[in-house]
Amino acid sequence: MQLTAGVIGCGNISKYHFSGLEKAGVRIKWVCDLNAATAKPWADKYQAQYTADYRAVLADPEVNLVNITALSFLHKAMCLDAIAAGKAVICEKTLAENADDALAIVQGAESAGTIFYTSYMKRFIPAVEQAKALLPKLGRILSTHIRAYQCWGNLWEDTSNTGFFGTPKGGMSEVRRRYGGGILVCGGSHILDLVVFLLGRPHRLFAQMHTPPGRDLDVQAAALLETANGIVHYEALAHPLHKIGFLRDGWDERFEINGTQGRLEMYSSAWTDIDTKASLLIHYDNVTGQAVEYRTAPQSPFDRAMAFFCANIAKGEQGAQSRLTGYDVDELIAHIKKSADTHQALDVTWRA
Ligand SMILES: NC(=O)c1ccc[n+]([C@@H]2O[C@H](COP(=O)([O-])OP(=O)(O)OC[C@H]3O[C@@H](n4cnc5c(N)ncnc54)[C@H](O)[C@@H]3O)[C@@H](O)[C@H]2O)c1
Repeated sequence: MQLTAGVIGCGNISKYHFSGLEKAGVRIKWVCDLNAATAKPWADKYQAQYTADYRAVLADPEVNLVNITALSFLHKAMCLDAIAAGKAVICEKTLAENADDALAIVQGAESAGTIFYTSYMKRFIPAVEQAKALLPKLGRILSTHIRAYQCWGNLWEDTSNTGFFGTPKGGMSEVRRRYGGGILVCGGSHILDLVVFLLGRPHRLFAQMHTPPGRDLDVQAAALLETANGIVHYEALAHPLHKIGFLRDGWDERFEINGTQGRLEMYSSAWTDIDTKASLLIHYDNVTGQAVEYRTAPQSPFDRAMAFFCANIAKGEQGAQSRLTGYDVDELIAHIKKSADTHQALDVTWRA
């Protein structure tokens, strides 16, 4: 089936989605953004129609795929309207502003039989896919350490209230307005998705978070998560260290999975460089005593994600990625916040 798409939201992240849709051979018929200047270059590039009203995209019977790259607080209305219009949906993370809204979206998609993806592209990093394939070689999984350390400057001690991370007096920081939260939502959501992808849904957790005085965004979220595949030590951290990480660029996102027969270590590159700097996987095998490094040429996981989504949509199948992906992460975020607020360990209540 030929796919005909509308792209709703033409800001920062959309260039990766346009690239993936183009490479997947999708016809881009509509581009939509409130800001005409942002959208027009894409309309020109793809000879697409421009609109500021996403409902015009949904009303076009030729459109069978809607790509949502608008801000997260807009996702609920856009996703539910796209589902009601009978379109397949690819939506950026995080799926919604809270777990209730994410649940409403995925239940809407499930009951309508809509092919529906939340795009957590880090699943599609070649080193992550390789790690998933090698998991059976680890034997019984004992312990996982996973972290997203991102260099956001010294928000711990700096009290300035301007700029992207600054909280103006009586106002909202730009990062919170755009993305719905601090490090937990921005960076921590991705690695929660990797926990579910690699180890399954956690059933219990205990979390702590830190929000500096005078700021409206968390700069640290740490948790112990219990899964059927052992304990997960999880942390998302906004830090001021410019030259840490395996590429010494301040980005320090990685996981280590330890089993009875081996260990996997994954080091990812920053999302802004993710199509030009490759991630790294190391597999230590306790049977052979060898450690093998997996290095690939840089490949955009956005392109790989979009190829996967579009191939499934063309076949009329949901395929191997569940509709619930975005809900799973938003439910874990809600439990982490609640555990940190109440200083209680919580059973995770999965509602879908
Ligand atoms: N996967 C990742 O690593 C990653 C990284 C950054 C952002 N994101 C996600 O991508 C999404 C977009 O983030 P961004 O950085 O591109 O934000 P952005 O602010 O750069 O772009 C959002 C665009 O949406 C447009 N918009 C606002 N209201 C609209 C409406 N009613 N109809 C149509 N367009 C509207 C804005 O004009 C803007 O151009 C968010 O959900 C964010 O969480 C994901």
